[in-house]
Amino acid sequence: MSPSVPAGKPVIAIDGPAGAGKSTLAASLASHLGLERLDTGSMYRAVAYAALRDGVDPGDASTVTELAHRVGIQVGPAVHVDGVDVTGELRGPAVTRVVSEVAANPGVRRELVRRQREWVAAHGGGVIEGRDIGTVVLPDADLKVYVTASEAERARRRAVEAEATAHGHDAVAVASDLARRDRLDSTRDSSPLAVAEGAVVVDSTNRSVEEIVEEVLKRL
Ligand code: DC
Repeated sequence: MSPSVPAGKPVIAIDGPAGAGKSTLAASLASHLGLERLDTGSMYRAVAYAALRDGVDPGDASTVTELAHRVGIQVGPAVHVDGVDVTGELRGPAVTRVVSEVAANPGVRRELVRRQREWVAAHGGGVIEGRDIGTVVLPDADLKVYVTASEAERARRRAVEAEATAHGHDAVAVASDLARRDRLDSTRDSSPLAVAEGAVVVDSTNRSVEEIVEEVLKRL
């Protein structure tokens, strides 16, 4: 650990598009520093899952916002929605198809941002990953990282992930879905994906996670 690591637990914000390598980097940083991590994408997926479960139209902004307020979400290695382990469903095609629309809903974002800040306060720090962590949720984080990778590499990683979670769909579908979600996440009005001021920008294409962790830790 570098001698300049802040006293107490640091707050580390990691943002970037789908398949950029955020989760791998977040897990590695968390284990290096003995911190817990929060994957905020799983929280948006949990709300999308709850909407599908309840037969709510994901585009019905006020009903989905109400749902976001009352749904119980626990994010850890497994994700529970209202006490039910839905880890397997969250990365599946049904949730993936509608999650960007749910994440573009300002009411949903306000509620989940509130919960994310509460999580950080309760844990006294940690590694938090998403799309708006350094820009909106935790602009005063001790370290902000924006991870990216080439489009081809990101599509390849997502295809491998889809296989691994037994939701295998073909590579062309994965690539076009990724491009669609990137477009929605980067062009929405409410907290679009963007590089935060002061963020370290890392391109993970052709780089090992160890190399990136070493580079990033120097900035803490
Ligand atoms: O990282 P992911 O694919 O699990 O994210 C799921 C969706 O949620 C994706 O459309 C981006 C969105 N998201 C967001 O808008 N803000 C966050 N902090 C995290 C994810």
